[in-house]
Formats: sequence, C-alpha cells, structure tokens
Amino acid sequence: MALNFKKTILSSERWVAPSGRRDYIKLDLNENYGLFDKKFLNKFKNFDAFTLSSYPEYENLLKALSKYTKQPAHNIALTNGADQGIELVLRLFFSKNDKVVMPSPIFSIYDHVLNILNVKVSHILYEDREQYFEFPFEKTFAELKKSNGLILCNPNNPLGSPIEKDQLLLLIKESNRLNIPCIIDEAYFEFYGKTSANIIKKYKNIIIIRTFSKAFGLAGLRLGYILADNTVIEQILKLRGPWDVNHFAVFAGETVLGDKKYFSSKMKSFLRLKASLKEFLEKNNMQVYDSRANFLIVKPKNGKKLIEQLKSVNILITGIDNYPFSSNLLKNAVRITIPSSQKDLKILKTNIKKIYG
Ligand SMILES: Cc1ncc(COP(=O)(O)O)c(C=O)c1O
Repeated sequence: MALNFKKTILSSERWVAPSGRRDYIKLDLNENYGLFDKKFLNKFKNFDAFTLSSYPEYENLLKALSKYTKQPAHNIALTNGADQGIELVLRLFFSKNDKVVMPSPIFSIYDHVLNILNVKVSHILYEDREQYFEFPFEKTFAELKKSNGLILCNPNNPLGSPIEKDQLLLLIKESNRLNIPCIIDEAYFEFYGKTSANIIKKYKNIIIIRTFSKAFGLAGLRLGYILADNTVIEQILKLRGPWDVNHFAVFAGETVLGDKKYFSSKMKSFLRLKASLKEFLEKNNMQVYDSRANFLIVKPKNGKKLIEQLKSVNILITGIDNYPFSSNLLKNAVRITIPSSQKDLKILKTNIKKIYG
C-alpha cells in the first residue's frame, strides 16, 4: 500500500547536490571559491572543542551582525543559509490559496517552496532591454492590491538587475499601506552596496533575506540571516529549530565579520575582474547584460556549445535558458560567476578566445 504523500510534494522535484567540482574553475553557482588566501584560511583553524562539542551560542555573532547591518540584534534571525531564511519567511506568511506577486524569473527556491505550500503566484516577467533586464514596476504595483505578499530579489538572481530606488520605495510603501509583507532577497547586497534595511524601522512589513555564501565566501557552511522588525523576528524564531545554525558556521561568521579590511580589498579586486570580463566578452561580440551581482548574464552565439567546451577544459558555467518562469527572456543565455582571481580570469579568457577565435 502506497503512503499518502502530500500532492504538492509528489509533484515537485528534489534538488540533486552536485559532485566532483573540486578540480574545476567553478563559475556555475555564484560562489566565491577563491576568496580566502592561506593566511585567512588559518584563522578558521582557531576553533576549539567548545565550538565542535557544545550546542551553538549565537549572541556574539548577533552582536557582530548588528554592527555590520546597523540593526539592533533583536531585528536579526540567523538561518541555515538564505535558503532556510526563504523557507521560514514563506512558511510564516503564506498558506494554501494565498496569492503572492513575484517579478520573475527569480531564484528558483521561491517557486519550489511556494508550490509545496500551495500558494498561488502571479509571476510578472522582467523585460529584455538588450543591455539590461528591466524590472516590471507598473504591473507589479498593479497586482499588489490582489495579493497577500510581495517577493523581490534585489539585485535579481538570475538576471543581475537591481530595482530602481524610487520604484522600490513605492512598492514598499504600497505593500505597507495594504499591510502585506514585502520580502526582499539581498543575497548579493555586498556587490551592489544598496539596501532597504535602513527603513525597516519606518516600514515594519520589510523582511530582508541575506547570506554569508556570496561576498563572505562561506557557501559550504550554510549561514544566512533575516533582517526585519523584531515582532517579525520573534515569529521566525518559533519556526526555526533551536540549533539549526551550527557552531562552526557561527565561529566562521564571527571570523569573517572581524576582518572588514580583508573583504573590502577583495571587493575592490572583484569589481576590477568583473569590469575586465565584461569588456572582454563584449569585444568578442557577446551580448552581456548589466549585473549588480557577482555574475554576468551572457548571450553567446551558441550557449550550449560554450558550456560544453569550457567544461572540457575544467571550467564550469551555467546554462539558464530553461530557468523557471523566464519565458523567452533567457534563450541561449549562460550565467558566468566572476572568477575569484586574475589567474582564473586569464584562463577563462584564453579558452573563450580559442572557442570563438
Ligand atoms: C537570490 C538568492 N537568494 C538566496 C540564495 C541562497 O543562498 P544560501 O547559500 O545562503 O542558501 C541564493 C544562492 O544562490 C541566491 O542567489
């Protein structure tokens, strides 16, 4: 006799973790694999038995994050990666037959979780303006009054585009007036530099989701956080398991937040590498979209061929032409994470030249 699984789970697909990526130049998952030099890596060795053998303590990391985000500690909830942050926030606010408005495409976990929760989604498609993907402001705004919530990604993954400040504020104000949550994914905040965190005090319906996986290079440890008014954080913490964020991740989080100088110098070099890659791809006749995140969206002559040929020389990039709810927007497009070093950038350029030269 078959067990009775929930229909929405039966009809969804599970994530299959990648394997065998160690020896590749990893430009496929928007990580930051080459961020740490040997000296910095050594700092991660300074943990002791307390970190490994005791249940985690969160107070010091919350204090450090409070300083970093300029939010009171009670406005912050640590999560097991931003993925868990997304799940917690969606579970907190939405249930069967609710409807949310979500400019799309957007990081695919949103659709995955909303589908399992049986929530209806009004996907509003971004527009292709050749140089950039335009945020669909008017249509999103118009849908708000029919919705139980708004979900934004700023800057967007997979598109790279930011939401213009005035438009974002209008959406926040309107969702606040309607008393519905305005969820803003800021996974790529550090690369973009702009945030809505500073107005949480005024608009208590803002919920921001962030991660240590990108600018802080800790994707392997699964560490993220939510910024929101403390009345929201209180409810989030009821949903999160007591020890969901592990002690080693907490230790690593404190370690990276403790060295501001290291990361600001890395960010400067990242921006140089990004500009250099964009210029190179454009010179090689590829359509490159403006991106405020740590990746570029590129439409080469033959995306599939580029992916295969780069893989054959140990470089991974991602094909995104079938990205969920992207319609025809990303036809033939590939997403390339910015290489973490000058050396890897050079290898990437040399190989692209060989393919298209
Ligand atoms: C927009 C966005 N949100 C959230 C995440 C998840 O981040 P984490 O590794 O912290 O789960 C990602 C990861 O790629 C992302 O692109």
